[in-house]
Amino acid sequence: MSLLTVNHLSHHYHSKADYTIALDNINFTLEHGEFVSILGPSGCGKTTLLSIVAGLIKPTKGTISLVEEDPSYKIPQMGYMLQQDYLFPWKSIKDNVLLGPKISKRLNEESTKRALEILKEVGLDNIADAYPDELSGGMRQRAALARTLINDPKLLLLDEPFSALDFQTKLRLEDFVSQMLKQYEKAALLVTHDISEAIAMSDRIILLKARPGKIKQVFTVNEELRHLPPFQTRQHPSFPSIFDAIWKEMSALEQEEPN
Ligand SMILES: Nc1ncnc2c1ncn2[C@@H]1O[C@H](COP(=O)(O)OP(=O)(O)O)[C@@H](O)[C@H]1O
Ligand SMILES: [Mg+2]
Repeated sequence: MSLLTVNHLSHHYHSKADYTIALDNINFTLEHGEFVSILGPSGCGKTTLLSIVAGLIKPTKGTISLVEEDPSYKIPQMGYMLQQDYLFPWKSIKDNVLLGPKISKRLNEESTKRALEILKEVGLDNIADAYPDELSGGMRQRAALARTLINDPKLLLLDEPFSALDFQTKLRLEDFVSQMLKQYEKAALLVTHDISEAIAMSDRIILLKARPGKIKQVFTVNEELRHLPPFQTRQHPSFPSIFDAIWKEMSALEQEEPN
């Protein structure tokens, strides 16, 4: 059974002055351990889709189902990583990472030990007592990843988490996140408008078109690229051909856009 099933999902926004069909009949599944990107131009409904999957917005139509292993399992099934890291500036890095255990009343010696282990894995153990303001953008995103991983979610939802970073930091963090997700055997749903990032990170890419947000095409990244770290994928000889194929589809979408 698939980890996540998105079934006939549609979402409309109403306001006094406006009516927007943000998503129109979206269907896809996400398998255990799989990395899928939702790629598309600004306004095609990516954030709406992720917010619905996260349970933050109730869809107008359709359903989302996530495999339930054990109903008594209190740990959150989904973790979020966003463009902005939302670390609390008044809390140390360690206390930010311990936020999940604190909220779910599991703050104890064991979770504190686990926080330090995870901080070590993300390379921040030596600055566990520092405050977010003292960290670079890339380090802050690694802290945000640690904060998510401590909750042991089954699925990570990533909403353009690399887009506010400089290019070198972004490339390093892509490799890092990819390796961590493999190590922890987590599935991920990434939304991005960056074709290269989608190819570098994913097993599968779902291309959305805008107004209304619909699935235009699904690209499967070839086996050889899927097993490489993102940085090496970007340099692989078969990278340009998949980039071109997606680029052509995305350019065609822009031409279809009513002005
Ligand atoms: N809260 C909202 N109220 C009204 N319209 C919205 C709201 N959020 C998003 N939209 C509209 O829905 C469409 C999809 O938005 P969004 O999901 O943010 O797209 P993306 O993340 O791909 O840029 C856009 O046309 C946007 O203007
Ligand atoms: Mg968005």
